[in-house]
Amino acid sequence: MSWVGGKKAPREEIVKRLPLNYGRYIEVFGGGGWVLFHKEPDKFEVYNDFNQNLINLYRCVKEKPEELIKWLEFSLDSRADFEYMTNRLKDDDLSDCQRAAYYYSLIRYSYASGVDSFGSQPHDMWKNFPLIRAAHARLRNTIIENKDFEKLIGQYDRPISFFYCDPPYYNTEDYYDGGGFGKDDHERLANTLCNMQGKFLLSYNDCPEIRELYQRPGILIECITRINNIAQRYEGGKQYSELLISNYDTSERMKSYFQFSLFDREIDVDKILSEKIIYRGG
Ligand SMILES: C[S@@+](CC[C@H](N)C(=O)[O-])C[C@H]1O[C@@H](n2cnc3c(N)ncnc32)[C@H](O)[C@@H]1O
Repeated sequence: MSWVGGKKAPREEIVKRLPLNYGRYIEVFGGGGWVLFHKEPDKFEVYNDFNQNLINLYRCVKEKPEELIKWLEFSLDSRADFEYMTNRLKDDDLSDCQRAAYYYSLIRYSYASGVDSFGSQPHDMWKNFPLIRAAHARLRNTIIENKDFEKLIGQYDRPISFFYCDPPYYNTEDYYDGGGFGKDDHERLANTLCNMQGKFLLSYNDCPEIRELYQRPGILIECITRINNIAQRYEGGKQYSELLISNYDTSERMKSYFQFSLFDREIDVDKILSEKIIYRGG
């Protein structure tokens, strides 16, 4: 289930690499909750993002879905309304549900869910109402936080904690609503993750800077290359490379999976090629 749209990480590839045993699931750079909504619910779950409008939206979905839906019933897919809502979000006299409805409308009516430019595409807002109700039910036991990643990790880090991190990709600092994520932030993230008590799995765009940043003892770097079947048709075999970086053996779940459900295995839609690099050191 995805209820806000946006970038699509290879979520099946993430879910099958989660640790076999953990006591706390923490999604650090929550965005659309692409992995959280796809995996089985855990008893202890945290969803976090630094973007205040996004977090206000999640809180309203969790606490007041019907009031949010009432506001969305009046939302129009028009350029004039898009500009009006963009400007009104700068004011601080909106109620929480009104703000959440405006922000959700901008996500839904914008180009590629980027919030800043009108998409000029038909969109039936009412078709989202069942999704909002399903997201409300799914988030019932999820803690919602609005912190910078370093503070969040410091607060929830325990040996039993597992952090899934999908940060803004390297060299995309201007893309995200609510502030940039520069070279210093990428370094701060690497230092925080590599000194934690718990486990982490991190997804990134494949680039030399990130490979170099995580060349540290005990850190596993896996490169997965997806051949997108649809893009392949039009773009002659276009491949996307992503890095999955972790501080634990990400194959433990897959090994147990093969043992118990050999004949139920789902067939991947995209073909996945994988290269593993493990840095060992003192
Ligand atoms: C690549 S997106 C996450 C995509 C997400 N996995 C999804 O399913 O949509 C990165 C997210 O990190 C958030 N972010 C940016 N800086 C942050 C920070 N310092 N701490 C926590 N979250 C941050 C952005 O608001 C954005 O939602």
